[in-house]
Formats: sequence, C-alpha cells, structure tokens
Amino acid sequence: MSSFIEFFGFRDNPFNITPDVDFFFMSSVHQEALASLEYLLETEEGFAVIVGEPGTGKTITIKKFLSQLPDSVEYAYILFPNLSPEEMFTALLEDFGIEPPENATKNRLFSMLKDFLIEKKKEGKKVFVIIDEAQNLPVETLEELRLLSNLETDKEKLIQIILLGQPELERKLELPQLRQLRQRITVIYRLSNLKKDEMIDYINYRLAKAGNSAVRISKKAYDRIFSLTGGNLRLINQIMERALMSAFVKNKHSIGSEEVDEAGESLGFKTQSRKKLIIFPVLILVIFSALGFGYYYFYQFNPKKTQPADKTVPAKKAVETYGTVIPAKLNMRKSAGRDSPVVYVLKKGDRVKIEGEKDGWYRVRFKNIEGWVKKEFLEVSYEKGTDRTDSRE
Ligand SMILES: Nc1ncnc2c1ncn2[C@@H]1O[C@H](COP(=O)(O)OP(=O)(O)OP(=O)(O)O)[C@@H](O)[C@H]1O
Ligand SMILES: [Mg+2]
Repeated sequence: MSSFIEFFGFRDNPFNITPDVDFFFMSSVHQEALASLEYLLETEEGFAVIVGEPGTGKTITIKKFLSQLPDSVEYAYILFPNLSPEEMFTALLEDFGIEPPENATKNRLFSMLKDFLIEKKKEGKKVFVIIDEAQNLPVETLEELRLLSNLETDKEKLIQIILLGQPELERKLELPQLRQLRQRITVIYRLSNLKKDEMIDYINYRLAKAGNSAVRISKKAYDRIFSLTGGNLRLINQIMERALMSAFVKNKHSIGSEEVDEAGESLGFKTQSRKKLIIFPVLILVIFSALGFGYYYFYQFNPKKTQPADKTVPAKKAVETYGTVIPAKLNMRKSAGRDSPVVYVLKKGDRVKIEGEKDGWYRVRFKNIEGWVKKEFLEVSYEKGTDRTDSRE
C-alpha cells in the first residue's frame, strides 16, 4: 500500500481509477444515465445507447446498473467488441455458458442464440446484452446485432441491447447503412463531465468512502482542480491522487492550490479552456506521462488500449505482461494470421506470457510453446517480475 494512504488514515486509495462500484457517486448525470437504463427493464425497447468522452463514467455506471439487476435478468457483457459477427455470436454464447461447436457458421450460431433466448423467455427471464467500447464495433456486426434484437415471440422481445461508447459511436450510428438500427434506438444518453459543485461533492464523497472525510481542501485548490480537469471524473481522480501524494511528501494533511498545481504538472495537464474541454489529447498525454496510473486502469478494464508489449515491457524492467484466455478454446498460431498453422490450442483461463504484438495479434509463450493469438481473446494483466532467469537475452 502506498504510504500516503496510511498517512491520511485511508482504508483504501480514495481515487483509484478502476471503475469500482463501491465508490459509485450518484451525480445528477449518472442518475439520469441509470434511469435511462432502468427504463429498458420496464419496456420492450430494443436498444439503449450511452455515449460520453473517455473518463465520464460509462463503465462504472453500467457496472452499477448490473449490480442492481433482479435475478430475473440474465446478461452478457462484452468488452472487446472489435469482433466479426461470428466472433460476436460466439462470444455471446460463451458468456451465456454455451459452448458453440467448432467452425459453426454464422447462421448456426445465430440459431443457437435464438434457441437459448426462447428458452429464457419460457423461464420468464429477460436477457440483456451489454457492449462496452462499442465505438469499436464493425458496422457489419452492429447490423447483425440489430437482426438479433428483432427476434420476438408473441410480440415480446427476446433480447435487449445496451451500447456504451465514446462519441465516435454516435457518429457511427449516423451511417446510412445503420439507418434501420438507428430507428430502433429509443434512448441515447450523453454523459457529461461534472459541474463544479458536484465535483466538490464527488471529491468529498470519495474521501469519506475511503475512510477520512477530514482532509481539508482549500477553495483555491478546488478552483484549480476544476480548471485542470473540466470536471472529468477520471482526470479528477488522477489529480487528486497526485495532490494527496504531494501533501504527504510535505507532511501536510490538507490540500492547497500548490499541491494541485504540482499534481497537474507531474501529470502534464494543461488548464482546460473555458469554452469546451478537449479531453482526448489531454488523456493521451496522461497515458504517456503517467503510465503508473494508466496501467491500473488498463489492467482491469481496457486491455485493448495497452501499449504494444514490446515497447512498454522492455526486457529487464520489473513489469511483465500476461494474458488470460477468455474463450473456451483459443488457437495459438505459428505467426500472426488466421491462415497460419495452429501450434497449440489454449483453454479458457490459461495464462500466457505476452512477449510482443503485431497487427491485432499478441506473440505469447505458454509452457515454452511460442505462438500468436488474436488480441481480443486475452484479458491482459501486468505483474511485477520477480525472477529474471527466464530472460532469453
Ligand atoms: N459516478 C461515478 N462515481 C464514482 N466514480 C466515478 C464515477 N464516474 C466515473 N468515476 C471514476 O472515473 C473513472 C472513469 O470512469 P469509467 O472508466 O467508467 O469511464 P468511461 O466513460 O467508461 O471511460 P472510457 O471511455 O475511457 O472507457 C472510474 O474508474 C471511476 O474511478
Ligand atoms: Mg469505459
């Protein structure tokens, strides 16, 4: 545990940037977003969409929603949606606990899903599919999802779909090929950054949640936090964590504008323009300048955005990259490409060491077998290397 946590008497890091439902703060925008999801529970509508800039809380909001669902709802949650229709159907079946036969055609997979959904309807259950980072969905796969959402018996929907994504998602949905899908969307909620008064409540909520509501933060410090983050929740977390560390180094139990400025400087933040916040370039800066923070986030929730393993994990550095196999079976191939021969078949839960990457594939090692697997099918994690004897240099 970092020592600033003990210094302030926290039980936990109050500004961890992983989407932890225990720390969920019900701001007015998050409340509205949740309400628009809950609306799906009451209705037979096909699609709900939530869009927002990075770090506005899409993932944590859906996690909150899922944590409150009644037992009568089953769902599949897909976080690596750069999938072909076949891969998407396979991922859905697997998430519902059904093993599809190898090399099944798209139609076969679709009909297996349909059978499963009819079965659930008979049991009186609702089924949701949630696709996070849906801006990465190929148009073709979106269109297949629409066909899936068309399924009904006795005028009752068999499945409802929630898409979450960055603003590109909304632009994608405007494409003429997706006109029919667009017509099926009844709710589009746009998550935004917090206003200043809610930002202050948010900070105090998280401090109290972590076990110390007595940290004093000056008014000037709040002004600076707001001007550096524009009210973006992930950026607020990053600034606050650094500001607390900065106070700790000075043996101070309060946060003033100096600590915030030091935090902003060390993260490479620039003051947000008063007009409109442009988070994305800031975020890129943040990712590069604060890998330490970055990888906690990527570690659990965003493996697709990781830096190429070859670059982030130079040999002899103390961090190693691992991947856990997501699907039931995963072919490991001789080189990066579907036509390359299979050298080994991995099973769900197998842990491989990631040693490189190329064109959407990872070069991995499993029990001394080397090969390539598609990136989508690994959940990436990072670990401190303890013994370096396996270094092959
Ligand atoms: N309502 C909230 N309550 C508590 N923490 C929040 C809330 N919204 C966002 N956060 C914090 O901000 C971080 C970023 O949120 P989240 O990962 O959900 O954003 P996102 O919109 O999914 O971003 P991305 O587009 O990059 O995936 C969360 O990990 C969490 O720490
Ligand atoms: Mg997210």
